[in-house]
Amino acid sequence: MRVLILAAGLGKRMKSKYPKVVHKILGKPMINWVIDLAKYFGQVGVVLGHKADIVKAYVPSDVQIFIQEPQLGTGHAVMCARGFIDPKDDVLILYGDVPLLSVETVGRLVEMHKSSGNEVTVLTFVAEDPTGYGRILRKGEKIRIVEDKDASEEIRKINEVNSGIYVFSGSFLIENLDKLKNDNAQGEYYLTDLVGLASKTSTVKLDDPTEVLGVNDRAQLAYLESIARQKILKNLMLSGVTIVDPTSTFIGPDVKIGIDTVIHPFTIIEGKTTIGEDCEIGPFTHIVDCTIGNNVKIIRSEAEKSIIHDNVSVGPFARLREGTVLHENVKIGNFVETKKSVIGKNSKAQHLTYLGDATVGEDVNVGAGTITCNYDGYRKHPTYIGDGAFIGSNCSLVAPVKIGKGAITGAGSVITEDVPDDSLAIARARQVVKEGWAKRKREEMKNADHKE
Ligand code: UD1
Ligand code: CA
Repeated sequence: MRVLILAAGLGKRMKSKYPKVVHKILGKPMINWVIDLAKYFGQVGVVLGHKADIVKAYVPSDVQIFIQEPQLGTGHAVMCARGFIDPKDDVLILYGDVPLLSVETVGRLVEMHKSSGNEVTVLTFVAEDPTGYGRILRKGEKIRIVEDKDASEEIRKINEVNSGIYVFSGSFLIENLDKLKNDNAQGEYYLTDLVGLASKTSTVKLDDPTEVLGVNDRAQLAYLESIARQKILKNLMLSGVTIVDPTSTFIGPDVKIGIDTVIHPFTIIEGKTTIGEDCEIGPFTHIVDCTIGNNVKIIRSEAEKSIIHDNVSVGPFARLREGTVLHENVKIGNFVETKKSVIGKNSKAQHLTYLGDATVGEDVNVGAGTITCNYDGYRKHPTYIGDGAFIGSNCSLVAPVKIGKGAITGAGSVITEDVPDDSLAIARARQVVKEGWAKRKREEMKNADHKE
């Protein structure tokens, strides 16, 4: 099966500088919802036109791109992808701005097409308000689709409509594409006219018309997001995940969560994130593209492109940036930021710390206020902290630098040189105590005030 996605349209009502199909639903661009669906069914091609250069950046390299310029209708869009059509293969047509179609529904359409052996199979539905849609006219085994703008009063009353999703036999498409004319109300080449040219057609009627809702403006974008969100949350709950408050929880379509994990309110989980079992995530947490093990707690924190192993606890108010790896039993506490850093088993950085480009061993204690000074204004440099080391509070580790296994750094030290295993490094001014100085100073100031 070949799958062709039509996505050349302008999307004027979005009132956007960006093409419609790159706007996101639950953190995922609309075009990628459709491409991922398409990939279930075969080789994918996409027709781009309006601001194609921007959309291209979202299209994976194994998807063929065709350009339609100018955009002269849905039939013309398919003509522009003629090279994609194989006479020996069926072609499924999808729209780039119809992101919520399910694999099951398209699967039903494809099955019907295969079993009927017809030239076209059309996905239809009964619309409460059919305005704007092409109407389905039936005559025996033949179907004709009449666009809203071309329809008579009588035809406009028909409420079975064209979803715009079809399967065509490749040979039928190749033989008939050139017969399309643009002598209609919109002066466009309608793909729908091909349905009328087929001698035998079949249809599949949708149970849930919300699946083929398109996005034309930002109000519809939000509406589709709310539909997608409810479905995803319901599926997760039915699969054994507790979602404490579905109205304040946002979880993307590619997120996987294990049983007995609890998602607390005001939490957003996006991208290709996987979360294990028995975790507590949130409240007030945002996670993007992370791999998280079992029994992990993340509270009031941000995490992106990070790997978190079992029994780790993060937050409140932590920020895990790209390239963070936290091994088992690690504790990352409040106001701790990590970036491109690997933290070994049982290690802790509980308060007010920045770990960047750092490799931290096992059983390390990183004291409050520790900063890896990884950037010299030109380049980033690494910090290594060996197993069992103890970094005293408020140390600056000026990278590149290595703290040996079992070493200790005194609180408030600025460590600029490597510290050997099992040693103590103190790098701060020695304390000076001037006995009675404060008292003398107070009296001196008091006398000065009297004189004034
Ligand atoms: C189309 C159907 C209509 C159906 C409706 C369902 C035709 C003629 N009509 O109507 O029967 O009820 O979809 O939503 O096909 N596109 C291109 N190039 C173009 C024009 C459109 O790539 O030149 C793409 C759009 O980006 C969009 C899709 O095709 O993703 C549908 O275009 P749209 O203008 O929304 O179709 P309608 O005319 O509303
Ligand atoms: Ca439309």
